[in-house]
Formats: sequence, structure tokens, C-alpha cells
Amino acid sequence: MKAVYFLKNGGPEVLQYGEQPDPIANEGQVVVDIHAASVNGADWKIRSGYHGPTQKFPHIPGRDFSGIVSAVGQGVTDIKTGDAVFGVVEASDDGCYAEKVAINAAIVTKKPAQLSHIEAAALGLIGLTAIVSIENALQVKAGQTVLVQGGAGGVASFGLQLAKHLGARVITTCSAANVDYVKSLGADQVIDYNKEDFTQVVKDCDAVFDTVGGEVAKNAFKVLKRGGRAAFINGPAPTSPHEDMASLKPDASRKRAHLDRIVQLVTSGAVKLPQITTYALADAAAAHRVSEGRHLRGKLVFKVRE
Ligand SMILES: NC(=O)c1ccc[n+]([C@@H]2O[C@H](COP(=O)([O-])OP(=O)(O)OC[C@H]3O[C@@H](n4cnc5c(N)ncnc54)[C@H](OP(=O)(O)O)[C@@H]3O)[C@@H](O)[C@H]2O)c1
Repeated sequence: MKAVYFLKNGGPEVLQYGEQPDPIANEGQVVVDIHAASVNGADWKIRSGYHGPTQKFPHIPGRDFSGIVSAVGQGVTDIKTGDAVFGVVEASDDGCYAEKVAINAAIVTKKPAQLSHIEAAALGLIGLTAIVSIENALQVKAGQTVLVQGGAGGVASFGLQLAKHLGARVITTCSAANVDYVKSLGADQVIDYNKEDFTQVVKDCDAVFDTVGGEVAKNAFKVLKRGGRAAFINGPAPTSPHEDMASLKPDASRKRAHLDRIVQLVTSGAVKLPQITTYALADAAAAHRVSEGRHLRGKLVFKVRE
């Protein structure tokens, strides 16, 4: 199969496009012929060695995909050859910047006909992460005020819409170019972080969802009310300065239930699709440069097959 892979950690230039062995379906697994795969921050962090050196080369990056099942391993009874599925591979495994991937059947789900492969591939990791953050970790409820940091990004754009759907008042931050975009997703209040310091204009939030990290993450507690909850997905959760303010690292375990919740939210219209820009798999380095620039609007998706 054709795949994008790297033989050492480094910049986008270490990404190569060429032949790699076809994966096989071990017990409990399916092989999926990939139609689309998306780019996530995790992909360039792993490529660069940000999380430490990669243990095994060649490594194929990529977490979320959509495609058609082409082989089924022993013991798989609920997914069959020919099913359209989407999912998110485990962080420890080879990824899906490829024409095929092997994955445990238990962590894929059927793709609804209303979503194209490109749309489904765009939603896997961002939807899963937003759901475990907003619903499980932050436990957002109607009437609450929620600050979502970095609203134009993939995870935050899903997260802000989900918080809104649950009945919260949603404040978000972004740069000037993305103000209209985040408003179109339903944000009630938008802060251009280059013009205003969010700690000066926001207070008494019930929850903060931080996708930005660094100093922005550390300042979350300045705008949280006592008893509030903050969740962090870009780097470790900072230590909470008060016993009654929770500092949480959401559990982004791959589960079919999370994927089914994505389908429910998107097909019901509660969550709109992110803005999607498509790339050819052979152009992975260019896509990484854009993602790594940290000012992405929506999602970058590889169109792997027609
Ligand atoms: N399981 C997990 O823990 C998990 C899962 C998924 C993602 N993540 C991590 O979460 C982070 C976000 O992922 P993503 O895929 O949503 O990112 P993304 O799509 O690349 O978006 C990054 C966004 O951050 C915004 N931004 C940059 N600096 C900002 C600032 N100072 N204040 C507010 N917004 C700012 C940018 O918008 P502007 O252009 O408007 O600045 C951009 O839209 C990444 O670090 C990723 O690795 C973790």
C-alpha cells in the first residue's frame, strides 16, 4: 500500500510517501481501506519527537480515518467486509496516513450515509476529545457559563458547539480572522486574544475548556468560580490553586460509544461540521506545516481514495 511514514524524528521534511507493507487483520481486528484521514496536532508532535523519541521505525502517523472494511479478523461479528466505518487509532499504534489500516473492530463504528468519508475522518479525534472533555470531565449543564479557549481549532470548534447544545452560555477566544467563524458556530461572546486579555473580561465561569496550553492554560483558574472545573488537552493539567477548583485531564480513550455520540450530534444538527481543507496524501508535509503553525481554522483532511 501507499503510505506516509518517517524513519527518524524531525521536521515536516522527514515525511516520506511510498510503499509500506499491507496490514493484516489479527484476531478482533478489521482492515479498513482508507478513503480519508485527517491531520491532528498529535501527528506533528509525534513526528517531531515532542513526546519523546519514536520507538519503532518506519512509523506511519495519523489518528482518525474513514473508509471501507476490506478484511475481518477472527472473532469479529458486528462489522463485516464492505461496511463503511470511521474511527480513531490508538496513540501507540501505526496510524492512518495510508491506503489501509488495521484496527480493533471494537473501536470503529459505522459511518452514516449522510456523512462523506472526508467529513467522518475530520470528526473522529476532535469529536471524541470534545465529548470526553465537555460531557465527561467538565460535566457542562444548562445555564452554566463555559470558556472555550481557541474556538477556531478542531477540538474547540466541536467543544463550543457541544457546550452550547447542552444549554451553556459559551465564551471563546480566537484571533481577529476567526471571529466570524466562531460566531457562526454559535459562540455567545468572542474575545480576540490579541486585543483583549481574557482574564480582564471574563469571570465566574463554571467551566474552562483549554485547548491552547502554556500561559493561557495556567490563567484558567483566574476566571473560574469556586467549585468550577477546568479541563486541559494541550499539555499537562496545571495544578489548581484552590481545593474546590478541579484541574482535569480528560480521558480520551478510544471507545465506539464516543464515535456514536459524534454521529448523533452531527446528524441531528446539534454540531456543525468544521471548515475542511483537503490535501493529497503525498502532500502531508505541507499539511503538517499548516497544522504546526497553530492558527488553523477547522480541519485538514487527506483524500486518500475517490
Ligand atoms: N487526547 C488529547 O489529549 C488531545 C486530543 C486532540 C487534540 N489535543 C491537543 O489539543 C490541542 C488543540 O488541538 P486542535 O486539533 O483543536 O488544534 P488546531 O485545530 O491546530 O487549532 C489550534 C487553534 O488554536 C488557536 N490559538 C492559537 N493560539 C491561541 C491563543 N493564544 N488563544 C486562543 N486561541 C489560540 C488557533 O486559532 P487562531 O488562528 O484564531 O489563533 C487555532 O485555531 C493540540 O495541542 C492537540 O495536540 C489533545
